[in-house]
Amino acid sequence: MGKFEVLDHPLIQHKLTIIRDKNCGTREFRQCVDEIAALMAYEVSREMPLEDVEVQTPMGVTTKKRLAGKKVVVVPILRAGLGMVEGILNLIPAAKVGHIGMYRDEETMQPHEYFVKMPSDLANREIFIVDPMLATGGSAIMAVDALKKRGAQSIKFVCLVAAPEGVEALRKAHPDIDIFAAALDERLDENGYIVPGLGDAGDRLFGTK
Ligand code: URA
Repeated sequence: MGKFEVLDHPLIQHKLTIIRDKNCGTREFRQCVDEIAALMAYEVSREMPLEDVEVQTPMGVTTKKRLAGKKVVVVPILRAGLGMVEGILNLIPAAKVGHIGMYRDEETMQPHEYFVKMPSDLANREIFIVDPMLATGGSAIMAVDALKKRGAQSIKFVCLVAAPEGVEALRKAHPDIDIFAAALDERLDENGYIVPGLGDAGDRLFGTK
C-alpha cells in the first residue's frame, strides 16, 4: 500500500492559511501556491535514491552522492495543477512536464479527459501528478488511469488540500501510489467542494469568474 502523508511544515501551513482567506487576491494566491509546491517538492523528493560519484575538488578527489534512478516528470491536471508546476521545477529544473486535461461535468460531477501529452518512456520515470484539490478523487483516479495505461509505474499524487472522501477513493482505486497533501480537510459539500477548503482553485489562481 502506498502512503498518505500530510506535509505540515510550518511554512506550508502558514502559506496555506493565507490562500484559504477569501480576500486573498490572485497575485498573492498564485505566489503562495508556487511556494507551497516548492516546499512540498522538497519533502516529496526526500527519499529519492542517490548513487556514488567521484568528484575532483580543487583540493583532491572524493566520492560523494548524486541523484540516481528515475527521472522526474511533473504532470499537472489542467487547469489548476498548472499553478504548482513552476514551484516544483525551481527545485527539480531538469524534470519533464506532461499535461493532462480533465474537466468536471457540473451536473454529474464526473471528470472527463480531453487532452493528454506525455514525455516518452513513462515506465522509467518518477511521476508527480499535481492538482491543488483532491476532492471526490474522480479526476485524480482518471489521471492515474491515463498514465498507467501509458506505462507509468511509479506515481506520486501531490495536492494542497485533500478531502477524506478523495483520499479514500484514490487509495481504493490505486493502492500502489503515494499521496501527499498540505492539509486534510473535513469533508465535501453537496457540490463536491472541499470544506473548509479554499474555494475553486482554478478560478482563484487565474482570476476567473
Ligand atoms: N476543486 C476545487 O477547485 N475546489 C474544491 O473545493 C473542489 C474541487
